[in-house]
Amino acid sequence: MSLQLLQHTSSYDLAPLASLLLVGALLALGPVLWVWLRHRHGTPLKRIQALRLFTLFLTFDLVLFGAFTRLTDSGLGCPDWPGCYGNTSPLGAGQQIAAAQTLLPDGPVTLPKAWIEMLHRYMATGVGALILLLTAVSWRDWLHQRKQAGATELPWPWLTSLTLVWVCVQGAFGALTVTMKLFPAIVTLHLLGALALLMMLCYPLSHAAGWSGRSPCCCCRSCWEVGSVPTMPYWPAQIFQPAKAVGGRI
Ligand code: HEM
Repeated sequence: MSLQLLQHTSSYDLAPLASLLLVGALLALGPVLWVWLRHRHGTPLKRIQALRLFTLFLTFDLVLFGAFTRLTDSGLGCPDWPGCYGNTSPLGAGQQIAAAQTLLPDGPVTLPKAWIEMLHRYMATGVGALILLLTAVSWRDWLHQRKQAGATELPWPWLTSLTLVWVCVQGAFGALTVTMKLFPAIVTLHLLGALALLMMLCYPLSHAAGWSGRSPCCCCRSCWEVGSVPTMPYWPAQIFQPAKAVGGRI
């Protein structure tokens, strides 16, 4: 019955794409303003690293929220992509959600589940917007310094560009997670992609000249090594556990 319910919904409806991108841009605005206000007199390297640190922090929150999405069984709270029944938020999909919830009160589509799923998407779009900005600023400052002085303290931004490509791929896997109805291999790749994204954001923070070692945050080199190496044995357990081990009751 629940599968029948989902099969009546078309998987892709691009109508809300522009407004979702706008929501992501608005979410990114807060961190950007904060970094700009705090570091406007700092060096380009400091500004870029501060923005990267904030992006890493939000990406970590996004990963936690992704786990929450999975553990509450909210992955199909909105069974189409990129919006919710073709709307920017579950507010516009009240009728469809109510109908699905009446049919199956504990099914995949309920109002709280729809909000959890959409919040995950909003956060992901915000993180994507921050990484786009980080890439643009990295290239701008790197090119500017090279033109002015012939050399630069900034690293060549290849890793930041790769991170931008990666977050798009990760978003595509997020879409497939929904449209392929939580197919286990796709959910696993989505999780692996998230871990790789965290590493890509972490690495330049822990290895940049003039930043590592003395950083006040958890991303300094020693914290990275102390924090990540002992947890590595647990990663396969998280990755390969059954995709829907816990049936949430929301
Ligand atoms: C930067 C982008 C993203 C990151 C870092 C991210 C990260 C995650 C993580 C870590 C999980 C938990 C996976 C697990 O515990 O196995 C998750 C779950 C999920 N994500 Fe994402 N995600 C991103 C973007 C997206 C997007 C754009 C969508 C959909 C349009 C999406 C849809 C989902 C869904 C449906 C689940 C739940 C899967 C389930 O119920 O089994 N994600 N995400």
